[in-house]
Amino acid sequence: MCGIIGVTGSDDPFGLILDGLTLLEYRGYDSAGVALVTGRELWRRRSAIRGESIGELLRLGPTAPVARAGIGHTRWATHGAPTEHNAHPHVDCTGRVAVVHNGIIENHREIAAKLDAEGHTRTSETDSEVVAHLVEAELASGADLFEAVQRCAKVLRGDFALAFMSADEPEVLVATRRSSPLIVGRTDSIGLVSSDISAVLGTTRELYAIGDDEVAEVRPGSIRIVDAEGSTVDPVPLRVSWGVRAALREGYEDFMSKEIHEQPRALADTLVGRILPEGTTELEELEIPAEELASIGRVIVIACGSSYHAGLAGRAALESWAKVPCTVEIASEFRYRDPVIDASTLVLAISQSGETVDTFHALREAKRRGARTIVLTNVVDSLMAREADGVLYTRAGPEIGVASTKCHTAQIVLLQVFALHLALIRRQLTPEQAAVIGARIASLPGLVERAVGQFDTYRATAEQLAEVNDVFFLGRGHGYPVALEGALKLKELAYVRAEGYPAGEMKHGPISLIDRHAVVVVVATRGALFEKLLANIEEVRARGATVVVLCDEGDEEAGELADIVLEVPAVDEMVAAAVCVVPFQVLAYAIARARGNDVDRPRNLAKVVTVE
Ligand code: G6P
Repeated sequence: MCGIIGVTGSDDPFGLILDGLTLLEYRGYDSAGVALVTGRELWRRRSAIRGESIGELLRLGPTAPVARAGIGHTRWATHGAPTEHNAHPHVDCTGRVAVVHNGIIENHREIAAKLDAEGHTRTSETDSEVVAHLVEAELASGADLFEAVQRCAKVLRGDFALAFMSADEPEVLVATRRSSPLIVGRTDSIGLVSSDISAVLGTTRELYAIGDDEVAEVRPGSIRIVDAEGSTVDPVPLRVSWGVRAALREGYEDFMSKEIHEQPRALADTLVGRILPEGTTELEELEIPAEELASIGRVIVIACGSSYHAGLAGRAALESWAKVPCTVEIASEFRYRDPVIDASTLVLAISQSGETVDTFHALREAKRRGARTIVLTNVVDSLMAREADGVLYTRAGPEIGVASTKCHTAQIVLLQVFALHLALIRRQLTPEQAAVIGARIASLPGLVERAVGQFDTYRATAEQLAEVNDVFFLGRGHGYPVALEGALKLKELAYVRAEGYPAGEMKHGPISLIDRHAVVVVVATRGALFEKLLANIEEVRARGATVVVLCDEGDEEAGELADIVLEVPAVDEMVAAAVCVVPFQVLAYAIARARGNDVDRPRNLAKVVTVE
């Protein structure tokens, strides 16, 4: 959720930290702060102007002191309101130790009570500040910063990424993590710490992962990492597949519209080399032997948010093509059930970021219970990619807008490729059938391009709905996950109450809510349930609702039932979701913009959710 960056050995640590924070801002933007070591003193500035804190810090640039090292943070509030005194970095009582934190210290109350009894003075309501005081106590007993962090990490419970500096060791940064991601990097003269690869790519591509409970000491040009037992570990180099430019807006009004437009490319890149003309598949990073995949008894997909909807969209293909039973589960629920899992269960985690803590822990739990595991993610070498037995990488490039668009459609398409792959391994499709399906999947970048080509039409249509307050999104079969995603997008971006519902289930309760004030959006592209869906549309029309119909281009039968029509190119229903979702992305985008909302940084949300 929050973003962390630390720099040592630079002539301009303030500039590098602010550049990094700007790139990290999508992770959290309630407040931000920087601490620098200048001479043998700490200089700290924080700001809590939502969405503007980094700008405020940038304005301080000319007044920042000469320094060689510093740490910075951009926050998504969990404990304590998004105020300046709760913003990171936090300092100890002496003001000589600074810490930035991402995650949650679960035993912070217990630690705080002990620290308070010992006479420490805390100045924030955060769970994070206790860590600065714990380190202070260790330093007072003679430890250096590295040892102090090693000892302090042992008493912490929860998920965390932490970076520290001390005025008494001006060129040293110390970092540690458990579950939350944190990486370190170096050039010949600089050392770096960051929660995110993209924030430091402008300085170096020589980056290393820090493992769970390891502690890293970063100095100008050098890195030392030890494990929880104190033994030195060889740092694991990270593979970096993105350039710096991919994270720039490049002339678009915002990242979200850029990323909607990038979908054809994201899908094409995700498919490159994976479907051969005869319908066979190549998934080289999968790493699980074909014979093991062939014997899988069932698939459980775990995910959150839009990734969960991508899982629902891919389920039909896993069942229908590969003939494998498949359930799709919300990761935060799955983890705390007592799921029945054995070695024939394949647990497939879907996560754009590869680090959502609910999905990560659910994946770990599945592994612990003996499942084979695969993660479908967009981030190479991310936490989950390192945890799972096999990986499926979408190749969508970095997604900065908080609400997922190009990663969501890339996930759907890659899941369909995986379903085809599994179907072939399990000999559930004839070569002819596989070739037809392969060609349909391969046509998706072009079809999505045609849908994206109607961005301005969708936007103009959506603007008629700028005042809506309550919307039902309905769908059946392939349209149901699309309806769920449409509703989620509208909630996230436009702050409009929206519900995604299976159209056939309306009559069992929610139809009582339909009257002439209701707006109902229906996914009515052609498929096996088309006739039944038309009947469902009639039911809501009869009660006076305003009906928005998403249908195939030129489909008069569906169009006639609508007050407002959104059209997409016709496509086979088994692979239709990635095409159908595009107008809903634009719908939410346009309504949010019309209401003056920040589409890249919607209120209360964060791109990467590293708390439970
Ligand atoms: C957050 C984001 C959503 C995303 C979800 C899952 O809630 O705002 O856009 O779908 O996390 O993220 P993941 O990285 O695991 O796909």
